Amino acid sequence: MYTTSREMVRKAKQNGYAVPAFNAEDLEMIQAIISACEEMKSPVIIQTTPSTLKYMRTFEASAIVKALAERTGIPVSLHLDHGSSYELCRQALEDGYSSIMIDGSKLSLDENIELTARVVKLADTYGVPVEGELGTIGGKEDSLEGEVQYTRPEEAVRFEKETGVAMFAAAIGTKHGFYKGEPHLNFELLEEINRMVSVPVVLHGGSGIPDDMIRRAVNTGIAKLNVATELRYAATQAVRKALLDESVIDPKKFMGPARDAVRELCMEKIKLCGSEGKA
Ligand code: 13P
Repeated sequence: MYTTSREMVRKAKQNGYAVPAFNAEDLEMIQAIISACEEMKSPVIIQTTPSTLKYMRTFEASAIVKALAERTGIPVSLHLDHGSSYELCRQALEDGYSSIMIDGSKLSLDENIELTARVVKLADTYGVPVEGELGTIGGKEDSLEGEVQYTRPEEAVRFEKETGVAMFAAAIGTKHGFYKGEPHLNFELLEEINRMVSVPVVLHGGSGIPDDMIRRAVNTGIAKLNVATELRYAATQAVRKALLDESVIDPKKFMGPARDAVRELCMEKIKLCGSEGKA
């Protein structure tokens, strides 16, 4: 069933688990994600970044996700990840996305609030919830590299109140992409943010975090967990391996293994999110 992410993340926050939010780059990844979530009866958010949308347009992603979602009993939402402009958010909404992120984290707090509030107002007319970002998640984010700037809880309170976001991404030490060395997550900060704001909190940079840290983040109140790099890596490794056999000349023979690898990995992440059986 195709739905917005609003109820999914609200229920997850209330019941102490996280909705997995998996980035997809192609048809096979979308198939793999839905199939894994169906098998484990997990709600799911499928998301595309602006760079993915240069490869697969919003109406293409939406047509595929909706068609598959309508044939399954689990709730599926299609989310714009790190929406980079008001215009891209508008286009995604127009093409049927059921969840939107506007990333104003590079702006000043006032400008971030102003842009996010404008996107919330627009998305409201479609009945679609919006995720904002406050503080900066480090690492390679789409095509941008940056350092972590921790979210300030008192700013989060203002952000929530003045923008009307349905959820927001907090910077607590995670980074996009693989980590150089051990990741350091500030669980005390996460706890404080969760105490002070009422909307669900999103954890970005889910790849390469040890399992016990993910479980702890979920137990500390993360209601949406974003995973991209590990899925892309699993797909790429499977293709690489399949193509070592030079007699392979059919995409089904290398994209099939990529799809299987992504499906397996999604099932592992669903277990860490605690979302199994919550569809
Ligand atoms: P990773 O690529 O580190 O899994 O981060 C995903 C993410 O946060 C997408 O917004």
